[in-house]
Amino acid sequence: MEKPTKIAAPKGKLGVLLPGMGAVATTFMAGVELVRQKKALPVGSLTQMATIRLGKRTDGRSPKIKDFVKLAKLDDMVFGGWDIFPESSYDAAAKAGVLDPHHLAAVKTFLSKIKPMPAAFDRAYVKMLDGKNVKKGKTKYDIALQIKDDIAKFKAKHGCSRLVMLWCGSTEVFMKQAEVHSAIDKFEEAMKANHPAIAPSMLYAWAAITSGIAYGNGAPNLTVDIPAMQELAHQHNVAIGGKDFKTGQTLLKTVLAPAFKARMLGLNGWFSTNILGNRDGEVLEDPGSFKTKEESKLGALEFILQPHLYPELYKTIHHKVRINYYPPRGDNKEGWDNIDIFGWLGYPMQIKVDFLCRDSILAAPIVLDLVLFLDLAQRAGMRGIQEWLSFYFKSPMTAPQLYPEHDLFIQLMKLKNTLRWMMGENLITHLGQEYYD
Ligand SMILES: NC(=O)c1ccc[n+]([C@@H]2O[C@H](COP(=O)([O-])OP(=O)(O)OC[C@H]3O[C@@H](n4cnc5c(N)ncnc54)[C@H](O)[C@@H]3O)[C@@H](O)[C@H]2O)c1
Repeated sequence: MEKPTKIAAPKGKLGVLLPGMGAVATTFMAGVELVRQKKALPVGSLTQMATIRLGKRTDGRSPKIKDFVKLAKLDDMVFGGWDIFPESSYDAAAKAGVLDPHHLAAVKTFLSKIKPMPAAFDRAYVKMLDGKNVKKGKTKYDIALQIKDDIAKFKAKHGCSRLVMLWCGSTEVFMKQAEVHSAIDKFEEAMKANHPAIAPSMLYAWAAITSGIAYGNGAPNLTVDIPAMQELAHQHNVAIGGKDFKTGQTLLKTVLAPAFKARMLGLNGWFSTNILGNRDGEVLEDPGSFKTKEESKLGALEFILQPHLYPELYKTIHHKVRINYYPPRGDNKEGWDNIDIFGWLGYPMQIKVDFLCRDSILAAPIVLDLVLFLDLAQRAGMRGIQEWLSFYFKSPMTAPQLYPEHDLFIQLMKLKNTLRWMMGENLITHLGQEYYD
């Protein structure tokens, strides 16, 4: 892809459309509002807090990312979305139980006004949920057209100059790429024929892309990870990205595994288990939805450790991931990892990680960054898969001939170099020989 010659300024309002307005979506919206009210800090967000080094280490140029690239301002963001439950985002946030009462009270007026539009939903794809706020239509195509209409009305009502859609809905049952996903015409015919390989998430994505709106996928659903959607994104000059927010356990996995590989330490096994009590945990009780999540969580190690290159160290890894729905913990997940490594002469060692995390607190800043960076990509004319946003995803999407990059620090370097490249700055190679001439 050629370097963008011109990046349109982020003028006017940015509409943020969220299919799925549960714990993550409401924690994100509430957080943006609390930051706008100057009652909290956007901790965890690169777009708000990180700097980027430009030029040589001796130049002393490290602006904040948000001052270096032109990003939409938080004050210019307006929110909407869809859910199968009709409750306002205030009620959904209160139910999710992520935020403390004083934070909830500060955003009550703001969140109470955000009410989900009726969802494109089918229980065949998320078996553990059932709700009444659901669209009706003869075919999946009709429903997708209704979503397009929702988008157009939202845009007009709020006077948005641009929109971004980011899936914060539930994890759907596991699906493999099928023939109907191979080309746009087959996909559209399949929508009209109510083909089972067309999941509800795909209707939102199709509606977004054909409306010229960037689409990001926060769940491990197949959605835009198929040739038809990628072709469609090219045709409509739309940026897409996915899949599955990289928040807790996998975040740590993609930090620790590169360290083992960097030092040529071997790995025999990695057992990861979680207890989680929010609705996401409940949805993942269904084996179909869990399979989708499991595949997403299992991929990282293989790609980082490259057993085909290092068979003595990584040929037989026992990698297991478990998620247990355990209501008392709510959104405050506990993730345990037992890691069996081996060192010099093959002597075994163990590492134990116990991460008492907060799922939606970790996910919300990722939602914010993805919205802002997808909008930036869109304004820069960067269409198709945005691989530079792999940093945020458990199963990064790539061009078909590439393997995904999972190492968090390579992902960060790629993200920052992409920003430097977009702005015509020198890329940072970390060579540094010039300091020793
Ligand atoms: N929080 C994290 O750390 C994290 C990390 C990675 C991925 N995720 C994914 O993010 C998504 C959201 O997580 P959450 O904790 O907010 O879950 P949640 O259950 O609180 O919210 C999801 C919402 O999506 C709605 N929904 C389901 N299908 C829908 C459809 N077809 N259209 C519209 N709405 C629909 C549900 O009714 C629910 O309100 C999940 O898929 C989860 O797996 C979360």
